[in-house]
Amino acid sequence: MDLMEKITALAKRRGFIFQGSEIYGGYQGFWDYGPLGTELKNNIKREWWKSMVYSREDVVGLDAAIIMNPTTWEKSGHLKAFTDPLTECKICHKRVRADNEEAIKEHEKEHNGKKSWAEPKTFNLMTEVMLGTTEPKEKAYLRGEITQGVFVNFKNVVDSTRIKIPFGIAQIGKAFRNEITPGNFTFRSLEFEQMELEYFVKPDDRESKKTFETWKETRKKWYEDLGIDSKKMRFHDHEPEKRAHYAKYATDIEYDAPFGWSEFEGIHHRGDFDLGNHNLKYQDPETNEEYTPWVIETSGGVDRALLFFLIDSYNEDGERIYLKLNPKLAPYKVAVFPLLKNKPELVDKAREIYQTLKKNLVVTWDDRGNIGKRYFAQDEIGTPWCVTIDFQSLEDGTITVRDRDSASQVRVDIDKLPEYFENKLSK
Ligand code: GAP
Repeated sequence: MDLMEKITALAKRRGFIFQGSEIYGGYQGFWDYGPLGTELKNNIKREWWKSMVYSREDVVGLDAAIIMNPTTWEKSGHLKAFTDPLTECKICHKRVRADNEEAIKEHEKEHNGKKSWAEPKTFNLMTEVMLGTTEPKEKAYLRGEITQGVFVNFKNVVDSTRIKIPFGIAQIGKAFRNEITPGNFTFRSLEFEQMELEYFVKPDDRESKKTFETWKETRKKWYEDLGIDSKKMRFHDHEPEKRAHYAKYATDIEYDAPFGWSEFEGIHHRGDFDLGNHNLKYQDPETNEEYTPWVIETSGGVDRALLFFLIDSYNEDGERIYLKLNPKLAPYKVAVFPLLKNKPELVDKAREIYQTLKKNLVVTWDDRGNIGKRYFAQDEIGTPWCVTIDFQSLEDGTITVRDRDSASQVRVDIDKLPEYFENKLSK
């Protein structure tokens, strides 16, 4: 099996990611997160929020509606310019992205190298929804980027808080795109989640460039600090013809995925494109100077980050498979086992420890099979520590803590366990 097949199989087997609506044959481009995937996703979002909002004085949060007044999308340019170019094979009528030379060549192989392509046409990516209970219903859109919710609330946020330029508004939420070629597991989906910061600055070429560079480095470092191999990440500056309609300039953070270098976060200099189109201005509270701020955006995909955290953490050591996830991201922090399931004194002590740890940590319980099998099962889902209660625990009040990555074990006082894990997790 290649790495993607292994990841997809593990994701399903252990409850990270399921095919959307699987019992009805699935639904292309939609995915459901299982019990462990939900934890991992929540942990990624929590770490992002901690770093982008709580650790800063110049960023506040927002949670805007998914469906917005359709005028928003006219003003933002998405109804006109948020498009992908498609070309149709005249032999079999299959449509392929006109800017994807590889896909075109691949398709031509299906017709033994015969080529007959129609003129490329552009297709809009916005997902339409019909609202209302009576005809005619009103056409609205599921947001194609979460960003516009921030811009339309710019004045509300400025008026209701004490933030002053430079400042940022952070948001996490679902976005929807009618992607023509969903694929590579969750990488290109029709429904996905974004984690974005819109950082507003004074209109100044030099200063905004500095801010752009700072955010690029900050965001790449965030992924590194959470364990992504820095050698597997790179920046990719957008060529002018590939830039989104709103971007003055842009850089992607890419990951060296099994299916090639792939974008999972975009840093965009949006200039005054959005606030200008929405006719929004800012008044400096000290000088009364009025101007349209410029925006530097960091736009990460939660699903793509999760996929790359899974791929990057995947390790095999002989028979043993382990996810070397940063403990902050691991779905369970600790697994608690009684050495033997049929010894009530061990089970009672283990339950007591499990309940104590559960107060502050996400902890799981396992008493099936032998200890080796339990370690194996926890390694595969990235649980950093396993605690075993054995006969010595009943005598001297210590248990063993086994480390996922080194497979080494230490004895720790039961009383000191909460503090022990707290210290480890704060690193
Ligand atoms: N607000 C700017 C914006 O939306 P983008 O580069 O189009 O910029 C940002 O998207 C991020 O959203 C991407 O880097 C990616 O991680 C995620 N994303 C975009 N389209 C996606 C899709 N179809 N499936 C999964 N994630 C997607």
